[in-house]
Amino acid sequence: MITWIREMLRYMNRNDSCWCGSGKKYKKCHADFDERLDEIKFISSKGQVRPPKRLINNAADIEGIKRAAAINTGALDLMANLVKEGVDTLTLNDVAHEFIVSHGAHPSCLNFEGFPKSICISVNNVVCHGIPSRKEILKSGDILNIDITTDLDGYFADASRMFTVGEVSPEAQKLIDVTHDIMEVGIAAAKPWHFVGDIGAACAKLAHENGYSVVTDLGGHGVGKKFHLEPFVSHDCRPETGMLLVPGIVITVEPMINVGKRRVTVDESDGWTVRTADGSLSAQWEKTILITETGVEVLAS
Ligand code: MF3
Ligand code: CO
Ligand code: CO
Repeated sequence: MITWIREMLRYMNRNDSCWCGSGKKYKKCHADFDERLDEIKFISSKGQVRPPKRLINNAADIEGIKRAAAINTGALDLMANLVKEGVDTLTLNDVAHEFIVSHGAHPSCLNFEGFPKSICISVNNVVCHGIPSRKEILKSGDILNIDITTDLDGYFADASRMFTVGEVSPEAQKLIDVTHDIMEVGIAAAKPWHFVGDIGAACAKLAHENGYSVVTDLGGHGVGKKFHLEPFVSHDCRPETGMLLVPGIVITVEPMINVGKRRVTVDESDGWTVRTADGSLSAQWEKTILITETGVEVLAS
């Protein structure tokens, strides 16, 4: 009887406009999606979670994220020409800031929970959230992550890349290259109608095969209509755990990989700078990806 009422309600709503905001009739939009979602049995002991509707982006949302991403990519591309020996990291920050603002967008990190600069620059043993500074001058052998997030008309795109200064050690170069591969295997493991935990399981496997550790205190996240949304994207976890990934969900994959142990500290002096506790080198790459009907589409890199 209950089933019959639910079916009847669904039937009656089929000509209404879809909950996703597309303006299309429900039956031509997310009706099949809802049916498929209803059929899935979530295993609570695995922490499997149903995705809330507010995380599902429609075509217009995706276009908005892509517009923010185009500017974000431009800012990251600019960094490649500027990273060299003798440059201070505040100069890089200022160039990225000007580029983003001159394109009518906003550098999302600026004033985010009190973060004092427009982008994050994390050098050598800094894992993430490094604050650009006039006093931090790049020298040959340094490796650094530049993490930029741009928001435009309420849509956010988040990506980061590694850069090298002059000659870097083979150990450092290997860390950078393997960390990129770790991000890519994580992205390859992200599939519609599978769980977010598959990403971290794939990332951790490759990291551990290379003798590296995976930072677990921080991770990726949903992104799009806000800077940080559910789900938390762990880069070291069990497969088939966490939130179900469905078409329309946008997340980041951004593994932080250490040569030494996974433990990190936060500088007391600024409350932001995350370092490896053992002082070992750390690397990170980040992309913003969309879960599609058939796989993933990279929105920002
Ligand atoms: N862009 C970072 C991320 O990947 C977040 C930086 S927050 C800041 O999620 F406040 F440190 F800028
Ligand atoms: Co980022
Ligand atoms: Co991010």
